[in-house]
Amino acid sequence: MIIFKKVDDITNFLSIAKENGVATGFVPTMGALHNGHISLVTKATIENQLVICSIFVNPTQFNDSKDFEKYPVTIEQDIYQLEKAGCTVLFLPSVEEIYPNGLEGHRHFELGFIETILDGKYRPGHFQGVCQVVHKLLEIMLPNKLYLGQKDFQQCLVLKKMASINYPSIQIIICPTQREADGLAMSSRNSRLTKEQRLVAIEIYATLQMVSNKSKPGNTYILKQSAVQYLTSKGFKVDYIEIANANTLEPVEDWNGKEKIVVLAAAFLNEVRLIDNLLINN
Ligand code: PAJ
Repeated sequence: MIIFKKVDDITNFLSIAKENGVATGFVPTMGALHNGHISLVTKATIENQLVICSIFVNPTQFNDSKDFEKYPVTIEQDIYQLEKAGCTVLFLPSVEEIYPNGLEGHRHFELGFIETILDGKYRPGHFQGVCQVVHKLLEIMLPNKLYLGQKDFQQCLVLKKMASINYPSIQIIICPTQREADGLAMSSRNSRLTKEQRLVAIEIYATLQMVSNKSKPGNTYILKQSAVQYLTSKGFKVDYIEIANANTLEPVEDWNGKEKIVVLAAAFLNEVRLIDNLLINN
């Protein structure tokens, strides 16, 4: 695996690969890699000749400075895991390399409704930051395919929208959520949970499964409320549990039983914010 830290160096390297018609897959990450991330890399290695992974803890997408400061960094293990998974190129830039003109005053992305709800509402500015960095990274990598995880469901829709406008030729591949044996969605933030919190954390997925199992055509309000109450009783501070249209994320108050829907949750255990989602199959 070749590691690049400078935009100019990786750009030069990739221009040669592109001239030779090499198919490239790109997996953007913030590091502290786990098997969720690695599943994206593995898929990319199957579908491309060259796989680029980036590790960059992007300051502009953290609306909570404590969350940014405490974001886990495990670069040596990350490099080891990427090598093992068959990743060909790792991009490891500094903040100055990605934001040479500072963190303020960046382009605003028109994301519309999708940015006003769920994580858009509870983490103001978050998706603008995600778009800023991914736009910049795509400009550098110009991959054939971009790999994203369903774990961040709303992020997938936001980036699909951003990419469809700015990089319409890039194909976006959404990979399924990888879970621990007890169902907890793998997340870099899980390492910040205490032993006790880790045991409680499985209740998020259990709640999503409960909502999925009990979903039936009609009003969704009571089901959502009981899910919030359940998680609250387990010690979570719930930001939201929403049942929404899986393509638009419009909340679904009255389900007709046919519309493709997803249940999404975001909740804190102490100061660690966990998110998860489940597509509801009827
Ligand atoms: P990060 O949280 O590091 O996630 C990188 C990619 O891995 C995202 O596409 C995410 O959805 C995927 N991923 C995380 N956990 C997963 C799991 N359990 N199963 C499957 N895929 C999983 O998401 C980001 O970084 C950033 O916002 C980023 C897109 C890199 C922009 O900074």
